[in-house]
Amino acid sequence: MKYNLTCLECKDTYSIDEIRFFCDCGGLLDIEPDEAEWNEIYKEKNFFQLIDYRSSRLNSGVWRYVDFIGINAKKRDIVTRNEGNTGIYKSGKISEFTGLDDVEVKHEGENPTGSFKDRGMTVAVTRAKQQNVSIIACASTGNTSASMASYASTAGLKSIVLVPEGTISRNKLSQAIAYGSRTVEIDGDFDKGMKLIIDGAKEGKLYPMNSVNPFRIEGQKTIIWEMLHQRRWQAPDWIIFPAGNLGNCSSFGKAVEELYNYAMIGKKPRLAGVQAKGANPFFLGFEKSFKEKFTVDAETIATAIRIGDPVNLPRAIRAIENTDGIVTQVTDNEIMNAKAIVDGAGIGAEPASCAAIAGLKKLVNDRVIGKNESVVAILTGHILKDTDSVISYHNKELPGIDSANANIPVKIKPEMKELDSLIKDLNKVE
Ligand code: F0G
Repeated sequence: MKYNLTCLECKDTYSIDEIRFFCDCGGLLDIEPDEAEWNEIYKEKNFFQLIDYRSSRLNSGVWRYVDFIGINAKKRDIVTRNEGNTGIYKSGKISEFTGLDDVEVKHEGENPTGSFKDRGMTVAVTRAKQQNVSIIACASTGNTSASMASYASTAGLKSIVLVPEGTISRNKLSQAIAYGSRTVEIDGDFDKGMKLIIDGAKEGKLYPMNSVNPFRIEGQKTIIWEMLHQRRWQAPDWIIFPAGNLGNCSSFGKAVEELYNYAMIGKKPRLAGVQAKGANPFFLGFEKSFKEKFTVDAETIATAIRIGDPVNLPRAIRAIENTDGIVTQVTDNEIMNAKAIVDGAGIGAEPASCAAIAGLKKLVNDRVIGKNESVVAILTGHILKDTDSVISYHNKELPGIDSANANIPVKIKPEMKELDSLIKDLNKVE
């Protein structure tokens, strides 16, 4: 299949064979199949059967949708850790908390390095390898670096990660170090690191693995493909997710558009992006119908989405507009109390992921989402991605957080009578 790189802004196209991440006009690039060739190869095909066929041969929950990802890859090229295949769950506790019956959560924290990033990384690292680059790089709030480090080592590539000193969770930092990336803590926030990566990419000095790289966007589309496959192609009314650098928002919008155009789904789910109140440039723009661009000095306990100048803004605006979507914001207190519910439901996810659940509660409460509508929430990262925040929350040690749903650990002497009284107390709890 022939693919092109097409500029979002001026529509200029470039050959997919170029190593290029921006248009000459500065715009971001989309990967689009050549229309004539697409029609020739796919017009008469039954996509449902095609996916069943691929699923019987490929274990990866990304590569079984290869026909709909903008890359040509032979099996031997593919750098995979059998990513995807993430579970989709219903929970009475989450329904009760959000006030919505028909809510499912799709847990992207079940990916090999513990976040959705692996879906984009398997495609982008495969492409980097095809293009014979030896070093790949990213800026990160933690999960991208963990994922890139793992896939780089799997592929035998060198990698550099730029992370903000002091505001990345130790669990994520330890992954990047352990998987073998050259790990650089910068004296500055994520946005500063991101700018260095973009400048370096524009000058041809480095190969970026952030979601400016359109192969990342292509891989992350499979969150939506797989979710719909699991739901037997029944689209929910809404898809809700945390929004930071806006890669997912961009990918989800592209996936929904494509699935709808291929008549795989009968209606477009509406996208709902949720930001932390202290890191809300996308929300501020949404409030002004995207007629103004905002940047902020980001601050939030959900460090994964501590981003003030998201690079995918134009792609994400398109996604919201094409799906009649919305953007909302929630406080750190709402995020952490929602997280205690998600964790206490036995599912568990990191703080940023739980912004989606806090946002859902708010949107149901504000009647933006109707009680009889169906929603799939995307949990983006694993509960063990940020263990410090869990321990501090339940010990009521987080400044500004009321820990309304704390499960305070207790200490006892190693004596039977103390254990007896503890069991007696537990029996009384409803
Ligand atoms: N949730 C988690 C757990 C994340 O790690 C991120 C982004 C997001 C949500 C936001 O997704 O950027 O597609 O809007 N983490 C990036 C990183 C920035 O470096 O790991 P987005």
